Amino acid sequence: MSDIILSASILSADFASLGEQIYLAEKAGVDWIHIDVMDGHFVPNITMGPFIVETCRRITSLPLDVHLMVEKPEQHIDAFAQAGADRISIHIEGNPNVYRTLESIRKLDCMPGIVLNPGTPASSISAILHLVDLILVMTVNPGYSGQDFIPESIAKIVEVRNMLEDQTSILIQADGGISEETLPKVFKAGARAFVAATSIFRHPGGIQEGILRLRKSAA
Ligand code: DX5
Ligand code: ZN
Repeated sequence: MSDIILSASILSADFASLGEQIYLAEKAGVDWIHIDVMDGHFVPNITMGPFIVETCRRITSLPLDVHLMVEKPEQHIDAFAQAGADRISIHIEGNPNVYRTLESIRKLDCMPGIVLNPGTPASSISAILHLVDLILVMTVNPGYSGQDFIPESIAKIVEVRNMLEDQTSILIQADGGISEETLPKVFKAGARAFVAATSIFRHPGGIQEGILRLRKSAA
């Protein structure tokens, strides 16, 4: 079985029993917990803040993978780091302070990631590769879980992988529409970390079945 990192996005979890849902995901062998932070401006939806990160921190010792889809992320990274985030990823789009913000994330002892929307070219991050541990290529337009995978994003993942050349310690992560059908294609393109909400928390066979199937699909 291939070595992949699976990050379970709690956006599709049942918040009436969040603790139990995270416990089941952890027991089934998920690697990270992905927390989608949306502010109603950068994306149309509004979701979670540092309070939920702090709640997750008490529930699990798994790394907390925080994806900020907010305007002015530099104003919020402190709060997320204090709440217990291990990784903080910010978008390149509309972010004039991206360089300083990535440096600040590292100073806060979190691992910095940069995110590319489907409409953003891979070349837009070429000047900041040395500042990141992870490149998140969105495989849907951000805002909601349960959307269809955008097939054109596969070519962008290949481009990012080629851009990295020998910087093999930087992880490529894919987020959006990841399922047993799409994961193998994205894996082949070069991604080794995968975010999934629907195919884990809404899997008809349950959370464990969802995670097992995703893992098997990369084999
Ligand atoms: C979308 C979020 C994703 C989302 C993925 O804006 O960044 O993390 O939760 O959901 P699925 O796996 O259902 O596409
Ligand atoms: Zn996400």
